[in-house]
Amino acid sequence: MEIIHVSAECYPVAKAGGLGDVVGALPKYLNGAGHVAKVVMPMYRTKFLAANDWEVVHKGRTNLGDYFFDYTVIKEATNKLGFDLYLIDIYGLLDREKIYGYDDDAQRFTAFQIAFVDWLSAWQHRPDVVHVHDYHAGLIPFMMQYCYRYNHLASIPTVLTIHNAQYQGWMGWDKSVWIPPYDSWKTGMMDWADTINPLASAIKCAAKVTTVSWSYLDELRYMSNGLEALFEYERGKCSGILNGIDADVWDPAKDSYIKDDYDLKTVTEGKAKNKARLCEQFGLDVNKPLFVFIGRLVGEKAADILPALIGDSFYYIGRRMNFLILGSGEPQVEAQLNGLAPVSQGDYSCYIGYNEALSHLMYAGADFLLMPSRVEPCGLNQMYAMRYGTVPMVRNTGGLRDTVKDINMPDGYGLVFDNASVGDVSHSVWRAVQLYQDKERFAHCREVMMKLDFSWEKSIQQYITLYKSLK
Ligand code: ADP
Ligand code: GLC
Repeated sequence: MEIIHVSAECYPVAKAGGLGDVVGALPKYLNGAGHVAKVVMPMYRTKFLAANDWEVVHKGRTNLGDYFFDYTVIKEATNKLGFDLYLIDIYGLLDREKIYGYDDDAQRFTAFQIAFVDWLSAWQHRPDVVHVHDYHAGLIPFMMQYCYRYNHLASIPTVLTIHNAQYQGWMGWDKSVWIPPYDSWKTGMMDWADTINPLASAIKCAAKVTTVSWSYLDELRYMSNGLEALFEYERGKCSGILNGIDADVWDPAKDSYIKDDYDLKTVTEGKAKNKARLCEQFGLDVNKPLFVFIGRLVGEKAADILPALIGDSFYYIGRRMNFLILGSGEPQVEAQLNGLAPVSQGDYSCYIGYNEALSHLMYAGADFLLMPSRVEPCGLNQMYAMRYGTVPMVRNTGGLRDTVKDINMPDGYGLVFDNASVGDVSHSVWRAVQLYQDKERFAHCREVMMKLDFSWEKSIQQYITLYKSLK
């Protein structure tokens, strides 16, 4: 089968979070299973673009309402990612350094989707499935079915994967002029609560909808930022397929970002060396357990509780541990985290920003990974942590619930708590300090975690079964 993935992110081309990791790995594993998976994404001005060779495969002209624009589709020339990668360039809209965060994002992603559908309509053959990811590609199923000029694409099945339903891409109905002429009887297929809602539209129009864990799928029916009734109504076509991790990129035995590789046999010494490196770099005491947080500093991740959590843990448990934070996001959280640095007694540090190499060193060198997320559709960090023998401390939600078992359960290896509150999380920090002192039990947790299989192999089969059901 030929499957075309359309996404705003794809590692290593452009990544803001887990969406990039998944779209950078899933097609590779689908190809490995004998299918032909391709990725189409916007051509941002990233380092990857400058560092690689490209060939032009298509040039076209289309319009966003009365704004006519040229677009160019280029393809990475050497297949170095293990799948065909296509970038769509739209001068003035997509030629930016960052993925998101511009005032005209709605316009940018709508133009990208129109250009994609326009290009697809010029193909000499038809793919078996168009697989769209999140709201940035959410209008594609509607356009393929109901825009007059793309009607011949209507019979190609579409799949939507929801990585995060918090963001839906809402636009006022005045923006409907951007959408190529469509069957006005189908207007409702773009609408939710009197706005154009690209995510809701994709849920309505796609043949199948998947989310990235089973528990998140359950949660969406009562907590999905306004789409609860839609998820209840469409539950028949929705399923949960847990993400995997790219075992080539995330492997402590051959991680190109870390100097001291290790495996199950050498984990104790290997982690100790990485921890020493990390502690030296950030001025931390290597003899204390090291707690890290890696992620977007936003409410969803409960990053706002980190400053108080660190303060309370030091106050109530004592200065018996180190905290190291890597992330960027809400300015007030960044400021509070920076503000804690001057009062550190060699037990706290933070790096505000995005740093892929540092994240690998942190998974390798940390003892515990904090994930108090209020919402976590799947979460990849906890899976990376476990592969690197780092004990995850997670809230009992979404994909975290589906992947981490508390140490109090038979064969448990992580720490699970119910609330994203300073009290609950600092209680877990206390439990973690106890666990760290029990060297035998701690080593056992590492061993159990590192033997767990979070590879894509299992999930890939579920996607393939899903695609086949659409034929
Ligand atoms: P989300 O996609 O919601 O941000 P995930 O757990 O699925 O959460 O994936 C987050 C990914 O982004 C992981 O690969 C994590 O290591 C990475 N990441 C997040 N913030 C940073 C950062 N500041 N620097 C480096 N990597 C980061
Ligand atoms: C989203 C979710 C995260 C998930 C990732 C990849 O960004 O917030 O939980 O792991 O997508 O599916």
